[in-house]
Amino acid sequence: MAIYYDEDAKVFTLQTRHSTYQSGIGKYGYLLHLYYGAKVEGEDMSYLIYKDDRGFSGNPYEAYMEEEQAFLAGVKPDAIRSYSMDTYPQEYSTFGSGDFRSSCLAVRFADGSQTTELRYRSHRIYRGKYALPGLPAMWGDETEWDTLEITLQDPYSGLETVLLYGVLEAYDIITRAACIVNRSTEPVDLERALSMCLEHPDANLDFISFYGRHNMERQLHRCPLRHGKQSVGSVRGTSSHHYNPFIILCEPGANEDYGGCYGMSFVYSGNFLAEIELDQINQTRCVMGIHPEGFCWRLDPEESFTAPEVVLSYSPAGLTALSQNYHQAYRSHLIASRWSRERRPVLINNWEATKFDFNDQKLLAIAREAKDLGIEMLVMDDGWFGNRDYDRRGLGDWFVNEKKFSNGLTALIDSVNELGMKFGIWVEPEMVNEDSELFRKHPDWCLGAPWRKGVYSRGQRVLDLSRTEVRDYLFDAIGAVLDSGNIEYVKWDMNRSLTDVWSAKLTPERQGEAGHRYVLGLYELMERFKQKYPDILFESCSGGGGRFDAGMLYYMPQIWCSDNTDAIDRIRIQYGTSFGYPINAVGAHVSVVPNQQTGRVTPLAARGAVAMAGTFGYELDITQMTDAEKQCVKEQVADFKRYYEVIQYGRYYRLTDPEERKDIAAWSFVSEDQARALIFVVVLHAQANAPALRFKAKGLQPDRIYSVSGLNLQVSGAALMHGGLVLPKKKGDYISFTFEVEAT
Ligand code: GLA
Repeated sequence: MAIYYDEDAKVFTLQTRHSTYQSGIGKYGYLLHLYYGAKVEGEDMSYLIYKDDRGFSGNPYEAYMEEEQAFLAGVKPDAIRSYSMDTYPQEYSTFGSGDFRSSCLAVRFADGSQTTELRYRSHRIYRGKYALPGLPAMWGDETEWDTLEITLQDPYSGLETVLLYGVLEAYDIITRAACIVNRSTEPVDLERALSMCLEHPDANLDFISFYGRHNMERQLHRCPLRHGKQSVGSVRGTSSHHYNPFIILCEPGANEDYGGCYGMSFVYSGNFLAEIELDQINQTRCVMGIHPEGFCWRLDPEESFTAPEVVLSYSPAGLTALSQNYHQAYRSHLIASRWSRERRPVLINNWEATKFDFNDQKLLAIAREAKDLGIEMLVMDDGWFGNRDYDRRGLGDWFVNEKKFSNGLTALIDSVNELGMKFGIWVEPEMVNEDSELFRKHPDWCLGAPWRKGVYSRGQRVLDLSRTEVRDYLFDAIGAVLDSGNIEYVKWDMNRSLTDVWSAKLTPERQGEAGHRYVLGLYELMERFKQKYPDILFESCSGGGGRFDAGMLYYMPQIWCSDNTDAIDRIRIQYGTSFGYPINAVGAHVSVVPNQQTGRVTPLAARGAVAMAGTFGYELDITQMTDAEKQCVKEQVADFKRYYEVIQYGRYYRLTDPEERKDIAAWSFVSEDQARALIFVVVLHAQANAPALRFKAKGLQPDRIYSVSGLNLQVSGAALMHGGLVLPKKKGDYISFTFEVEAT
């Protein structure tokens, strides 16, 4: 059991392999945060709470009464006045009752009052992992997980909050979620219902976040904390290209191999807020959850609201170990698809090759060539349905455009299968174009008040997925396509941000629920598809990486990382992505040069090396390639198949930081038994009369002897990790190297 309750001290301790998390029931029943960090055993950490009577930091009523007694007895009241919600570390902060820092919970009661204070009522510790109905969450069995549930209650209104903690000891993972129940007789409105609060006793931390834009997602940004609130978040209806719902707080000196780091990953795909506040006495608070902007959730008596899961991990030894915790834990205990464990096919996608301009013959020609080179699946992207010849038309009409298929879709799938290849298809279920049969029939199925024109983006509007009839239509219409042939892969796209978020099915006082209900509807729909088609490999996409989050990963084991397929930009995008997400979740393809997004020309070898740090595939017109290029593709595909186990399940190491090294980028994969490693390097900047290009390997066994392909080298792991490797001299732009490292 990884969870302990000390009855006397009233302290809860959660233990993982390298970390300890502690909270305690303080005086008057408040649940205080005591510690999260490197492993400490058998201690009560409540001594860390600094007690001081501070001006303008109010006290609970009980403390005020106690002070009165003390005063009458002639005792100095300082010790009592120090008990303040304004300064004490909280497990779940509430608005209105003396804690002026970032709150998790803000409630408006029927009489308009807005004060909530939560006190301990009961708790439950059990083996196994709690589940969150209707929401994605990490999973596993009794041998791996333990759960702590702490019930808190507002003594005045009866409002109840159950804090959920899951402990996955082996991977240093602690999950958190919260469930709020209205135990009163009148409705209440949740104006803020975040998932967790994490306190840190001092200010000495860096904040790492991942910002970006379409075509340039998840760029790492690191800065020291400043006084006040600092946050990242999204109000776009999706987790967004712009800020990722994964952040890190770390010691200022922390790097890949050293220093304490806290990761916080939100298992949710809609609006989010990750807010950090450095308070008046240099304490740090982080809250994370659904973004309160535009949010308001009505709870009728006895109704409950579940705030989605946050996955915490602490590494006492740097960022690499932190990332590896997430990689391993998400591969084994988040992604809920058999494809998390099974070898996925090398695919070729026709989007960059043809855009909307294709027919069955063109696709078959691509499939034939691809098959000869070892590629295993053809994915037919956007443009196969309705009157979709252009991005202003057809979305919503999930039936085949017969003009593009001389003998129908089934015949095409059969022909592709006869070649010995699998077949995959693109859909964008959540959207509709005005020029579609669906919109003409159900104009009211979109989000948005009918008396507004609303915002258009890529010429499309958003279907109201909170509505059952909309989801039923999508399930039936897309299901009919999936049933019409042997479709083994689905790319589920989503190409705009949500605006005009208003649902025709909700009463005015419930419109603040529409955004979250959309996400819940999406989750329900994906779950239905997952249940009915367990063998289909799903890839999530939102204009590339606009919804690259742990929520989507639960349903779909891979996510198209970015619409930017330029190898050099991808190095940075994949670098940032690797901090919080496993490599085998990263959709990555080799595309043509000049690259369609940047115009850059890079060698095919470099494009292959970069795409191998992901699911690997191609996205180009293979029929236009020269024989030499085809031979190169054939070798890349064969290499990737040989490397598969190490890349997809091995440990991933970032060997260079793009901010520091402008000359090369290097990364590697090491098998769990450390017998095999693959090191990839791309030269970013060719120079005349250049200095030697060196870098160090990681993750090898120091005293084992390894051979390094291409360098004619046999040296110890210690030599490769401490002395490093020197790249052979080669001229040209973006030259790349792949070193196969084998224990002898
Ligand atoms: C999005 C995706 C692309 C492609 C197009 C098709 O932009 O990210 O990969 O599927 O849509 O319209």
